[in-house]
Amino acid sequence: MRFYEDLDNIAINRLPQRSYYIPENEGAYTLLNGRWRFHYFDSEADVTDSISGWDEISVPSCWQTLGYEDPNYTNVNYPYPVDPPFVPDRNPAGIYEREFNVENAGNQTYIVFEGVSSCVFLYINGEFAGYSQGSHLQAEFDVTPFVKKGVNTLRAKVLKWCSGSYLEDQDFFRFNGIFRDVYMLSRPQGHLTDIEVLAEKCAITAKFSGSANVTLCDGEGRVLETKTGQDGVSFAVENPVFWNAEKPYLYTLKFEAAGEVITIKTGFKTVEIGPDCALIINGVPVKLKGVNHHDTDPYTGWYQTDEAILNDLLLMKSLNINTVRTSHYPPPPKFLNLCDELGLYVVLETDLETHGFVTRVCGYGYDNDNSDWPGNKKEWTKSYVERMERAFERDKNHPSIIMWSTGNESGHGPNHYEMVKWLRARRPGALVHCEDASRLGYLDHADVYSIMYPEVYKNEAYSKEQNNRTVEGYLTNPENKQPLFLCEFAHAMGNGPGTVLEYMDFCYRYPAFIGGCVWEWADHTVVIDGVPKYGGDFCEGTHDHNFCCDGMVTHDRRLKAGSKEIKAAYQNISASLNGTDLTITNLYDFTNLSEFSLKLSVMADGETVAEGDYTLDVRPKESRELNVAALIGNVTGCRLGAYLNASFTDKNGHEVAFVQHELSVPKQSHEAPREALALTETEKTIIARGDGFVYEFSKLLGGFVSIKRNGKEQLVSPTKLSVWRAPTDNDRHIRKKWEWSDSDNQSGENFNKVFSKVYDCRTDNNVITVTGSLAGISRKPFFRYTAVYAFFTDGTVDVSLSGSVREDCVWLPRLGFEFKTLLENSRFSYFGMGPDENYADMRAFARMGLFHSSAADEYVNYVKPQEHGNHTNTKELAFNNGLTFTGYGFECNVSEFDSLDLSRAGHIDELKKNGAVNVRIDYKVSGIGSNSCGPALLERYRLKEKQIEFAFSFGLTKE
Ligand code: GAL
Ligand code: MG
Repeated sequence: MRFYEDLDNIAINRLPQRSYYIPENEGAYTLLNGRWRFHYFDSEADVTDSISGWDEISVPSCWQTLGYEDPNYTNVNYPYPVDPPFVPDRNPAGIYEREFNVENAGNQTYIVFEGVSSCVFLYINGEFAGYSQGSHLQAEFDVTPFVKKGVNTLRAKVLKWCSGSYLEDQDFFRFNGIFRDVYMLSRPQGHLTDIEVLAEKCAITAKFSGSANVTLCDGEGRVLETKTGQDGVSFAVENPVFWNAEKPYLYTLKFEAAGEVITIKTGFKTVEIGPDCALIINGVPVKLKGVNHHDTDPYTGWYQTDEAILNDLLLMKSLNINTVRTSHYPPPPKFLNLCDELGLYVVLETDLETHGFVTRVCGYGYDNDNSDWPGNKKEWTKSYVERMERAFERDKNHPSIIMWSTGNESGHGPNHYEMVKWLRARRPGALVHCEDASRLGYLDHADVYSIMYPEVYKNEAYSKEQNNRTVEGYLTNPENKQPLFLCEFAHAMGNGPGTVLEYMDFCYRYPAFIGGCVWEWADHTVVIDGVPKYGGDFCEGTHDHNFCCDGMVTHDRRLKAGSKEIKAAYQNISASLNGTDLTITNLYDFTNLSEFSLKLSVMADGETVAEGDYTLDVRPKESRELNVAALIGNVTGCRLGAYLNASFTDKNGHEVAFVQHELSVPKQSHEAPREALALTETEKTIIARGDGFVYEFSKLLGGFVSIKRNGKEQLVSPTKLSVWRAPTDNDRHIRKKWEWSDSDNQSGENFNKVFSKVYDCRTDNNVITVTGSLAGISRKPFFRYTAVYAFFTDGTVDVSLSGSVREDCVWLPRLGFEFKTLLENSRFSYFGMGPDENYADMRAFARMGLFHSSAADEYVNYVKPQEHGNHTNTKELAFNNGLTFTGYGFECNVSEFDSLDLSRAGHIDELKKNGAVNVRIDYKVSGIGSNSCGPALLERYRLKEKQIEFAFSFGLTKE
């Protein structure tokens, strides 16, 4: 057994964990980030004491993103055999070396690593000075005995794997190196060794060992009191201002001891579970509108700069997120300082996941009681408990932390229970989160009932246990005595998530549903030559494809429709319109709506006809009615639609909430009565000719083969009916029933290989009637229809489709007509839901309006190309070159890509434009959901009806 495989060696000379702080006095802190000497060895066995041929590396970093090894993305599977505590014999090693200066040799000198994966051997001036594992936990070494005044040499030997790797089987790229800050502290003899601060019951108390002068300041920096204390001080604070995520009020404590200055911020906050299982913060029931955050960057891997972290947290705040679960390890300490300052509730999870035990024998199984699981083994107890202890002790002073989590997906054994007991003894009353304990029935080992990816609704076909694992089922079962917390929901992979509102609806209706965290914050990728890559792109031994691309924001932190959907679902203001009364409800917990500006605007056919600005005094959880009769009285009629828009903005002009209501005003049509157009027939085609247009309809194909406007062809290929969409990541299960694939030619309806059959195509006056069917290759027709085309002298064509879907056919991706038109038609305007893509179950953020766009602008560059760019409820779609569609709310899509090409591309650089503007005029498009990891799409969002009636018109505008 090697040293780093021996479970007795989890730390040598590492100091007991203390709370995070950095002394501020001159000379105390030397950041050692920067350029280091580096040598990468394929195998630890080849490491020699004297190393020639150093490279230079920047620290912090991950050596895989710098080309020393290929990255490896794996989710559940361990990237090596499951044979704990042993790791592969060929264990890559990185040797890091640099000089550092010790000015004051009379002081204590410490080296602190904030994060090293997977373990670090520390050498000072050639002497072994310590060892630590626990990648995302802090390791502090007292190196005083090893240093001398002046220049010293620090060498760190970092191994790819150690026994601790078995506890770090989180779903991410497996990176290695010194990936967080590393620094030296020079501290006077007799300095404080730890500080614990608590702000409770009108007092701020600090515990430490030794004597210190402590100054308390309020949130405005005013000194409230200074005290000298031995082993602790306590300040009475009259009428304390409480900390919460909306108003993150912090007090500051400044400790002066042994010549050192240390600042720690604190905040008053109470967290408890109410009798109705509500989460009560500072006496107020609060809903957690959360997200799971991994530290991820497409260029630096696990290392996020301070600016990147700040940017993440600010972006979260701007999306109405109030909670972050640090999945599945403690973040860099500064992350938590920022959560305190900016206001975010934190579920602090320690660095622990042993998910890969479910696949250690073929198949997938949580055989939780099996003694194989390290959580059940005595020799692992120390490793488990110290991971809880190190997380807690480092982060115990943060007011933002509302709950502590023992880790993720590790089964639940005695070792977990030891962690829970340790935490409960260490800080009685602190809330404990442990999803495994909830799932496996150890309810008293956690304070909330935590579920991942549940279905929303209960189901009559389910057993009692199954229903209890649905949101509705859990909430309506009176036997349940714990708050419901969704540690993960709304899997945001690719185009998605949809169906988020339904969860929030239950959340507001049931006190016991305290909220949840979207999975997850950002896509994990490694960008190579401008192309984001994922699992399988690096010849990995085992990988999980693009399952790492499941962020609600992109890898480079751009928003997508799913981000905006979450923002809308989480928004803290609602408004309902009843006649002329607009009822506005404040869903904030601690904020009066008077802090926001409300702009109401009345829009008819895309034009603003009236506006009003308001500031409303509405206290948290209260509502207020606003009479909007005068405002909406300005619109008496419209052609396409009239709407009342309510937009709430904060003092920076950022929109925090938006609500739109359709106004019921009469629709007026300006169109003159139309005259029927006589058609002429040839052997193969039917021709409709009029002033400035000629249409040619194929009797064989049952569609248009030519649409000419003033002699100029508009079509690139014949129009057709189709049902295919490039599967989204969330379609990954249902697509097996939709498509023909190389690996399975039996399970699908083969919608990606459809034959169109025309049984009959006849003309009667100005009308063409087609009867036909669509069938996937090798399958019975799934759709039989009659399509009627009526032509008018003004060039308009009324299309109506009436058909039936085979009873035993799976629900459809979509159904509609495809027009492939000229590139000159690439710009367009539409009156419908926009401006971003939207789908039946992902459009809470979208709004009706008149929008201008182009085929290129409609592209959304999902890491793995897939369906995108849809607009629901379209009333009119007009191309710049004269092709125009009108209808009663069809769905439309304009793209530079054909959906079959989109389906075939695995990465954005594999995507080829097909030289056309691909237009879809759809009866319906199925919703998005989050079935990549979450539940199947709700029935109501599936295109599952068997009888279909669809109508729209198109025409050509005159020049
Ligand atoms: C969960 C897990 C996450 C992530 C997710 C899938 O089961 O806790 O870490 O793997 O599934 O994206
Ligand atoms: Mg996992």
